[in-house]
Amino acid sequence: MRTHTFIRSVAALAGLVCCASCAGSSDSTPAATAPKGTGTTTGTTTGTTPAAGPVTLATHNPSQAATVGTVFSYDATRGNTTFKDVAGKGLTYTVTLVPAANGLVAAAGKLSGTPATTGLVSVTITATDGAGATATDAFDVIAFAAGLATPTLDPSLKYSDADGNVPAHFRAAGGPPGGGGGLGGANAFDNTPASNPVTNAGAALGRVLFYDKRLSANDAQACASCHVQSRGFADTARLSGGFKGGFTGRHSMSLANARYYARGRFFWDERAVTLEDQVLRPIQDTVEMGMTLDLLEKKLALTAYYPALFTAAFGTSTITRERIALAVAQFVRSLVSGGAKFDQALTATGGTATVFTPQEQQGFALFGPNCARCHTTVALSADDIHNTGLDATITDVGAGGGTFKVPSLRNVAVRGRYMHDGRFTSLDQVVAFYDSGVQPNPGLDPRLVGGRGGQPQRLNLTAAERAALVAFLATLTDQTFLNDIRFASPFPR
Ligand code: HEC
Ligand code: HEC
Repeated sequence: MRTHTFIRSVAALAGLVCCASCAGSSDSTPAATAPKGTGTTTGTTTGTTPAAGPVTLATHNPSQAATVGTVFSYDATRGNTTFKDVAGKGLTYTVTLVPAANGLVAAAGKLSGTPATTGLVSVTITATDGAGATATDAFDVIAFAAGLATPTLDPSLKYSDADGNVPAHFRAAGGPPGGGGGLGGANAFDNTPASNPVTNAGAALGRVLFYDKRLSANDAQACASCHVQSRGFADTARLSGGFKGGFTGRHSMSLANARYYARGRFFWDERAVTLEDQVLRPIQDTVEMGMTLDLLEKKLALTAYYPALFTAAFGTSTITRERIALAVAQFVRSLVSGGAKFDQALTATGGTATVFTPQEQQGFALFGPNCARCHTTVALSADDIHNTGLDATITDVGAGGGTFKVPSLRNVAVRGRYMHDGRFTSLDQVVAFYDSGVQPNPGLDPRLVGGRGGQPQRLNLTAAERAALVAFLATLTDQTFLNDIRFASPFPR
C-alpha cells in the first residue's frame, strides 16, 4: 500500500529549504538518506521488519514550466523511474511544495492543479521504501503568465561598431573627458569595456531581454515599459509605474548614447559603477520588476528561445546572470543616436547654416557657450555630475550634495518630462530655468555661477533667444533612431 503526505506548512519544511534551493544545479543529486525516525514519511510495514535496502535517485527531474490558469500535471516519479528501489520493497512518495502550493496538489508523487499566479514552486519528492530508507529529488515548477509572446528575430540586423552602428562623426577623438568637451567627437567618452564589446548576436539577445516581460516577477513589465523607444528610451510619466503598480523614486532616464559617458557610472546618482552592474538592478528592484537573479536564470532556461540566443552570443547555451548583464549592456550601448537634423547640420559641407533654420542656428550658437560645457560632444551626453541649482534647499542629495548625472540630450524634445524628479513638463520650462531660475546653494556648479558674489547665472535671454534654444533642442530628435527596427520590440503586439 502507498500512502502520501502533502504538506503545506512552511514551518514544517524548514529542513527542506536547502534541497529546494539547490534544485537548479546539476551536481546536487541528493544521496540516499537513512530514515531519521521523525518527519513526514508515512510508509508503514507490518510483520517482520525487512532489511533496510537503499533507495537511490536514478534520474533527476528537470524543472517544469506551467501557465497561470491552465491545468498542469506532472508525474515526478515518471512512472516509478525517478528513483531506483534497490531492495524491491516498493516505494511511497512524499511531496512538499515551497514556499506555497500555488494551486498545485500532489498525490502518489504526481502533481496536478491550476497555478493561480506567476512564480516558482520548489518541489521536493522523497521516496521511501518498505524498510524506511529514503532518497529525495528536488526541482522547480515555474508558473508563467498566460499569453506571453515569442519574439521574431531577423539575423541580418547588425549592431556592432564594425557594421556601422556608430556614425563617422562620433568616432572622431574629440576633446578629452572633463576638458570642457564642446561638440567634438565622442570616442574618448565611450565606456564600452574591452571585455564586452557590442556584438551582433550579443546585442540581439540583449534586445530580446530588454523587451521580454518574463524579466519581471509577474511577467507584466519589461525594461521597455519605462524606456520607450518612441520617447528616446525614456518615459513621459514623471515617475514610472512598476510591475505591481508602485512608482519609481525618480524619473526614468533616456538610454540613447548612454555609452558616451566617460565616467561609466549609471543612474542619476551614479550608484551603479558600470552598465553591466546597472542592468541587473531594475530586475531585482522591488518596485520595478521584483525578481531574484536565481529565478531569472531559471525562467530563461525554461523559455524555449533563449538557449539558442545564448549560444549565438556566447558559444554555449548556459544562462547566467553575468551573461544576461553582458547582453543587455551590449544592447543599451548599441542605442547610438546620431542621425538627427543636428547631425546633418554638423556634417554638412556648407556649414550648419545650410541645414538649420535661422532660428535653430541662433539656438545652436547659444547652446555652445552656455550648455555644451556640460552637455558635451556630438553624443550630447554629460561630462560629469553637477549640482545645477534646481532648489535652494536640497531634498535629494543625488550623487552627493545635490549633484546628478544627466542622460544625453538626444531626442529630448520627445520625452515630455525633465530632470531627475521630472519636475519640468516642457523644454520652455527647462530653458527658462537656466535663464533665470538657477537657485543659489552651497554646491552649485561653478559653471552656473554668474559673476559677483557667487550668485547664480542670469542669462537674460530674450523670448526669441529662449525660443531659439528650444528650437535647437528639437533638432536633436532623431526619427531614424526612434523608428529603427533594430531597437524596436521583437515581440508581436
Ligand atoms: C519601472 C520602470 C523601469 C523599469 C522596468 C526599468 N527602468 Fe531603467 N530606469 C528607470 C528609472 C526611474 C531610472 C532612473 C533611476 C535613478 O536614477 O534613481 C532608470 C535608469 C536606467 C539606466 C541608467 C541610465 C543612465 O544614463 O545612467 C539604465 C541604463 C536603465 N535604466 C536600463 C534599464 C534596463 C536594462 C531595464 C530592464 C532590465 C530597466 N532599465 C528597467 C525606470 C525603469
Ligand atoms: C553645469 C553643467 C550644466 C550646464 C551648464 C547645463 N546643464 Fe543641462 N543639465 C545638467 C545636469 C546635471 C542635468 C540633470 C539635473 C537634474 O536632473 O538634477 C541637466 C538637465 C538638463 C535637461 C533635462 C534632461 C533630462 O533628460 O531630463 C535639459 C533639457 C538640459 N539640461 C538642457 C540644458 C540647456 C539648454 C543648457 C544651456 C542653457 C544646459 N542644460 C546647461 C547640467 C548642465
